[in-house]
Amino acid sequence: MKLPIYIYGHPVLRRATEPVTPDYPNLPALIDNMFETMYAAEGCGLAAPQVGLSIKLVVIDVDVLKESNPECAGRKFVLINPEVEVLDGEEVTRAEGCLSLPNLSENVNRVEHIRLRWLDENFQPKEEEMSGFLARCVQHEVDHLNGKVYMDHVSATRKLLIRNKLRNLMDGKFSCDYRVKTAARRK
Ligand code: NI
Repeated sequence: MKLPIYIYGHPVLRRATEPVTPDYPNLPALIDNMFETMYAAEGCGLAAPQVGLSIKLVVIDVDVLKESNPECAGRKFVLINPEVEVLDGEEVTRAEGCLSLPNLSENVNRVEHIRLRWLDENFQPKEEEMSGFLARCVQHEVDHLNGKVYMDHVSATRKLLIRNKLRNLMDGKFSCDYRVKTAARRK
């Protein structure tokens, strides 16, 4: 089942999230629905706040990016309660987009190398060093769990230039081909 995606300006994207426990109701179905929602919207990552849930849960499938980013090949996984450790301070600038900010893309600085600790969908602990676009995608999604979106990393000057587009997102004045919930049409 596809879920509506919450759009920039909706307060749920700014809320703190709770850790997920094994007794969380219908977790396997939620994970399936998040993957289905992400694929239908042609995204490569989706965090629970983007479907209105304030919990530490992310789905990622970056295999589609493998041609220019070999580290992404075959990487489809579920992150429960992930923690990012920065391994060095080297930062790289690349364009990012987000299903919660349709029709926008901006350059974002992020560190290139991280160590990620998380639980998989069976609550098995995992730990891995990651780099490149894979590390970027993970940082983007973990930001969502901390009430942040990539636009928070964009300079005030740049945001001033696109302020009308951001306002239109908040006001629900845009079109995209997936179901959304906006701050303007909040239920
Ligand atoms: Ni995002």
